[in-house]
Amino acid sequence: MSLVHETDYGTPPSLSSELVTLEIDGMSVTVPAGTTVMRAAAELGTKVPKLCATDSLEPFGSCRLCLVEIEGRRGTPASCTTPVEAGMKVKTQTDRLAKLRRGVMELYISDHPLDCLTCAANGDCELQDMAGVVGLRDVRYGYEGENHLKAEKDTSNPYFTFDPAKCIVCSRCVRACEEVQGTFALTIDGRGFASAVSPGGTDFLESECVSCGACVQACPTATLMENSVIEAGQAEHSVITTCAYCGVGCGFKAEMRGTEVVRMVPWKDGAANHGHSCVKGRFAWGYATHKERVLKPMIRAKITDPWQEVSWEEAIGHAASEFKRIQAKYGRDSIGGITSSRCTNEETYLVQKLVRAGFGNNNVDTCARVCHSPTGYGLKTTFGTSAGTQDFDSVMHADVILVIGANPTDAHPVFASRMKKRLREGARLIVADPRRIDLVRTPHVEADFHLQLKPGANVALINAFAHVVVTEGLVAEDFVAERCEPTDTARWRAFIADPRHSPEAVEAVTGVPAADVRAAARLYATGGNAAIYYGLGVTEHSQGSTMVMGMANLAMVTGNIGREGVGVNPLRGQNNVQGSCDMGSFPHEFTGYRHVSDDAVRESFEAVWNVALRGEPGLRIPNMLDAAVDGTFKGLYIQGEDIAQSDPDITHVTAGLAAMECVVIQDIFLNETASFAHVFLPGSSFLEKDGTFTNAERRISMVRKAMPPMAGYADWEATMLLSNALGYRMDYTHPSEIMDEIARLTPTFAGVSFEKIERLGSVQWPCNDQAPEGTPTMHIGGFVRGKGKFAITEFVPTEERSTARYPLILTTGRILSQYNVGAQTRRTENVVWHEEDLLEIHPFDAEHRGIVDGDWVALASRSGETSLRAKITDRVQAGVVYTTFHNPETAANVVTTDFSDWATNCPEYKVTAVQVRRVNHRSDWQDRYAALREETTRIADPAAAAE
Ligand code: SF4
Ligand code: SF4
Ligand code: SF4
Ligand code: FES
Repeated sequence: MSLVHETDYGTPPSLSSELVTLEIDGMSVTVPAGTTVMRAAAELGTKVPKLCATDSLEPFGSCRLCLVEIEGRRGTPASCTTPVEAGMKVKTQTDRLAKLRRGVMELYISDHPLDCLTCAANGDCELQDMAGVVGLRDVRYGYEGENHLKAEKDTSNPYFTFDPAKCIVCSRCVRACEEVQGTFALTIDGRGFASAVSPGGTDFLESECVSCGACVQACPTATLMENSVIEAGQAEHSVITTCAYCGVGCGFKAEMRGTEVVRMVPWKDGAANHGHSCVKGRFAWGYATHKERVLKPMIRAKITDPWQEVSWEEAIGHAASEFKRIQAKYGRDSIGGITSSRCTNEETYLVQKLVRAGFGNNNVDTCARVCHSPTGYGLKTTFGTSAGTQDFDSVMHADVILVIGANPTDAHPVFASRMKKRLREGARLIVADPRRIDLVRTPHVEADFHLQLKPGANVALINAFAHVVVTEGLVAEDFVAERCEPTDTARWRAFIADPRHSPEAVEAVTGVPAADVRAAARLYATGGNAAIYYGLGVTEHSQGSTMVMGMANLAMVTGNIGREGVGVNPLRGQNNVQGSCDMGSFPHEFTGYRHVSDDAVRESFEAVWNVALRGEPGLRIPNMLDAAVDGTFKGLYIQGEDIAQSDPDITHVTAGLAAMECVVIQDIFLNETASFAHVFLPGSSFLEKDGTFTNAERRISMVRKAMPPMAGYADWEATMLLSNALGYRMDYTHPSEIMDEIARLTPTFAGVSFEKIERLGSVQWPCNDQAPEGTPTMHIGGFVRGKGKFAITEFVPTEERSTARYPLILTTGRILSQYNVGAQTRRTENVVWHEEDLLEIHPFDAEHRGIVDGDWVALASRSGETSLRAKITDRVQAGVVYTTFHNPETAANVVTTDFSDWATNCPEYKVTAVQVRRVNHRSDWQDRYAALREETTRIADPAAAAE
């Protein structure tokens, strides 16, 4: 049986609460009103033959294969487009129907290559299945005359092939691109016999296609087919798991032949993605077995020495003895650890446990420090919990969507598709972003407002929104009186009503016309359910935490919190950044965001961990690096992070790393940080281990082992080895035991277990006695902290200002085809879409500097200088330049500064004063770095070493 199309009800479910009873083939069935006859039959286990229908798409009624007879009706209506009616009597199998269906199939097959035995879809082809189902034995029309059998293949897309000779023009691909993905890249060109699928009159690669795979998924034939299946053949089993890229957390079926992945198919029952995917999760999995994977542990005395491959035992023993030596010489606080937002919850938990219990200090931090730590601080302060308030499906109930500092179509594409669907249904859209992101205008979606603010002006803008609400009588008075702390509310209302926060007063700061701000604020406050979605364009500022609180204030004052369709929702970047924060990765918090100074909490951990724990917060990543430069911090264990590329002010980061005596890197590749490491422990990809990831909607989903760890150990096992070598015993035999410990120690996870996640498919925390099956929507009826707290959000401009020397402002972001530091996606075919980071510059600024499109330009700030190619575009406003940070050769973070959020130290990536000038060479820094990289990544030839 096909592994892909195994439960297809033919048409989507009806959401009606009214029930209708009818009879199909003499059997009674009761279904929601609005259900199609085809789906009602499927509920009974009767599969009506079909080709153009599938349950992920609205019925279309073009193939005429699904005909049925209905008592009292003339003709043979299509069951996929006919809704059920009470008392209806339907026949799905009669001689007349059989004959009609055979006739339809005969026409299809007469223009179809009969190469089933050698076709890549053999065994997974609905046309083949239907020919069998309708009993087609003869094809009378043959191939004479006109046909499409010689139509040319389109192999331009690196991941799938379009073979129009096999197309039955069922339009499923076109509709998938429209309804599911929302890109509208495909059309049916021509009419009648000449009609054919076209990616906009060009090839797939040149078209608007974003390679999401929805059309390939929907195609019932081998017309659109994954190249991996064409090359490797059909899979023989599948493993359900979770995407290891972004914070959407899509469920996938890893389709396997033995231990080899054949394809990744989005899981229809995945609650985060409902069977949709983006190019990364769907196709860009080849990195997992890339030839550059490092599969042997390695050690070296100095970073300029070549790496020596050693046994796991030797590498772990060396790391442990070095850490012990350093602590004996420089003190207990001289070492620390960094957890990974790409690893599982269980692995992250073990690393922070190792630091707190094994190292005996709280020097543990995570990459969330540099992305969403202000989310944790801001939402905890105002609402009482450090996470987003809704599930993704909530967006389908939103009437007004406010997107601030996020670029969902690039960074959270599957959620963006859902959001676009809601927008096509009529929800209104406000985008606040310095750059014209795709969402501002995309097929059948146009923002009501694009508030193109200046980088760094977020807080002024959100205060102006709240000012309009408070001064124009738009406050949800009943909600505020019932749900929020009265003293704070009164103080905040007086603060925000001050004329200095009016849209007019801040117009010069924000750069946004006051009239637009007023109109957008009114729309948000009065347009029905209003939901805020935000990203790193909010958090990565010196006032990131203030801005998060500003958005929370706005949601509370308008009553847009505590039900479906509303809320304040961080779009989290990495697959498990929510989880790594939940798991106690910050130096001041245990799991569940409980402070290390809380005696009762600490004692509960001491009892289970059997060790005395410190009550003072440890060092954050920037503090560790500062201390290393100062000579007091000497050893670091980094699991699955690449701080030498991802963290700001790389010169400072690398100086800190270079000053340490033992840096242990655990990763799947020799990343940029490994250039400064002394021990390398081979990591395991998401395909090689069991565990869980927690996505941006607090959803905990299973990650399942599809193949054995290529280097011998999963990451959690390697951490255990290190801990045991250090003398702190860890004896888990499976990650489920680690989750059981987490549940025992963490009230919001008290009801979580692998067994429950297996049973429910996924579960959203809090999950405990009060919410045994989890919590999709937070703060219903009351805030987690009790009463909501309005926080004072004074706008304090960043100290990073444009000057005569650095007159432009640089802001950074992501692109769809690449992921974070690019370590994974750069090792896939995704490079065809984004080979290098480019600097977007406005035509005015380019002309002023004599820069033309494609010129090599220097990008300089007070921190450093790099060089990259220019792309001239009016997506950015004059005075602002923009780039991505996916390539180490560009090293955009050479120029970002050490300014950071006042509350959390989250770096201010989004505002850097820079100068841009035309050059014809790489920067000195890049040359020096390339030389260093060459020197520090050499691996000694084991054969030569043995001689
Ligand atoms: S490419 Fe596939 S889905 Fe699209 S019309 Fe042809 S057969 Fe149908
Ligand atoms: S891959 Fe996605 S974007 Fe491209 S044509 Fe297919 S459905 Fe449309
Ligand atoms: S949207 Fe995110 S989680 Fe989903 S497939 Fe794409 S990268 Fe993976
Ligand atoms: S499946 Fe109903 S008309 Fe094609």
